[in-house]
Amino acid sequence: MASDGRPQIIVAEDAEALAGIAAERLLARVTPVTERAAVCLTGGSSPEGLYQRLAREPYRSKLPWGRVHWFMGDDRFVPGDHTHSNMGMARRLFLDRVSVPAGNIHPIPTDADSPHVAARHYEAELKRFYGRDRFDPAHPLFDLVLMGLASDGHTASLFPDSPALDEAERWVVGIERAGLAPFVPRVTLTFPALASTREMLFLVTGGDKHDILMRVRSGEDLPATRARAQGDLVWLVDRATGLEDTDAARHATG
Ligand code: 6PG
Repeated sequence: MASDGRPQIIVAEDAEALAGIAAERLLARVTPVTERAAVCLTGGSSPEGLYQRLAREPYRSKLPWGRVHWFMGDDRFVPGDHTHSNMGMARRLFLDRVSVPAGNIHPIPTDADSPHVAARHYEAELKRFYGRDRFDPAHPLFDLVLMGLASDGHTASLFPDSPALDEAERWVVGIERAGLAPFVPRVTLTFPALASTREMLFLVTGGDKHDILMRVRSGEDLPATRARAQGDLVWLVDRATGLEDTDAARHATG
């Protein structure tokens, strides 16, 4: 967190550089963890470069694969091998290409009877992994949570005007209607669960994200604006988004 309490903003030169910075941050988060590290992944196109990079050197050799557990912040309620599956994408781009113990991959069970049943199962799995029923601020569930930002301001599958935005008890909920394509039901972690992390890292690329990023920056009540982290909250964007990094903004305003 920046010293003034606001999120830190890091501007990468381009999407390629952004993937490199994200990979280094991920490595830095999981390497010091001596027991089990937990990373919560995200869907969308913004993390693709990062995922591809993790399957290549130096990360292929450097990441302590045996002790990192991979979760998903939200998924589309489709079979795991469907092209719209977020965990399917993560598997294709890196998890299937490196040596990860099968038990370290924690997909949202989209073969359940409904998104609500899947949400209950995944919440139980998160609680088992965490070993507690309530979040302890001294012991975040995740070491790193990745997030994206969509053109309507949604993040994970927390869409504008959804009651899920105000969910304070449940860790995972089913979403019947997506606010944006693909229009399939979703299962998503809630803000309290996503906040239980040492670092939350938003990945945002491309000029088409400029307007929505500015709206989030201005504090407008959008889902992504509500995201909080117990640890560091970092927005990693590329130059094409037109956002200035926190330090540059501070210098500009004196
Ligand atoms: C999903 C995502 C979603 C995504 C944003 C941004 O399953 O749809 O998890 O929240 O992160 O839509 O997506 P892009 O990176 O493709 O813009």
